[in-house]
Amino acid sequence: MVDTATHDQLVAEMTGGLAPSEADLPPFAGSDPTEPSGEPSSARLGVPVTFSTSPRFYFRQLLSGRDFATNDPIAAQMVNFVYAIGDRQSGEAVLVDPAYDVEGLLGVLAADDMRCAGVLATHYHPDHVGGAMMGMQLEGVAELLEQVDVPIHIQAPEAEFVRTVTGLTDAALVQHQSGDVVSVGAVDIELICTPGHTPGSQCFLVDGRLVAGDTLFLDGCGRMDLPGSDPAQMYESLTQKLAKVPDDAVLYPGHRYSLESSATMGVTRERNVVFRPKTRQQWLAAFGG
Ligand SMILES: [Fe+2]
Repeated sequence: MVDTATHDQLVAEMTGGLAPSEADLPPFAGSDPTEPSGEPSSARLGVPVTFSTSPRFYFRQLLSGRDFATNDPIAAQMVNFVYAIGDRQSGEAVLVDPAYDVEGLLGVLAADDMRCAGVLATHYHPDHVGGAMMGMQLEGVAELLEQVDVPIHIQAPEAEFVRTVTGLTDAALVQHQSGDVVSVGAVDIELICTPGHTPGSQCFLVDGRLVAGDTLFLDGCGRMDLPGSDPAQMYESLTQKLAKVPDDAVLYPGHRYSLESSATMGVTRERNVVFRPKTRQQWLAAFGG
């Protein structure tokens, strides 16, 4: 079970010295709706991947405190990324980890003539799905459901945690297994369960992109000392579950903890310290606490 006391621990996840200040960050163009891929290659590390050329594909990377929740200092400090993925022709999009500012996020979709058709939740932490944190109540999926009647897609092992943090019941949740596909119009999104940061963390593979939540950042990975964390599972997730993701796929993380907002998996596998150990034993010795 998750109790509210654990939420104070979560704060350190986003303020543990990994996140540069906004003043250090370069200008960001990823929120430009005229850029179908969501982000120009100049803000990305690595060889540009060949994304879908279909004008139907809709993808946006939105930074908390800048692209939404613009008057929320906590959202700005946390540097969460929310993603919108959809099909321009059908006008449907899913939001990945909508938190802080539900109205603002729905407004982004509306301005693009898109409507919210569902939520993909990477994991249960309140900065991703809403809930109590630092003595405050963050908006999230519960508030979103007051505006739109849509399914919340999670991995089954995360259900108990999501219910506790958001107050939602099972009726609001669609519990998945790894490998399931969620379709948004003609866009298919594969769900990959990647436990380690939490028991049912999941990543999303779509159109040569990996939307990774707090499983994998450009530098480092999600913390493994929080309720439900498991370093051994994280090792398996990074080296086995994500092994199928090709080097030219682009990693889109759950937080902007690096100067760049995305990088190819090839560059990430070369540069990120979590891919440096050669064996499970080495990995656990380095990162398992
Ligand atoms: Fe997290």
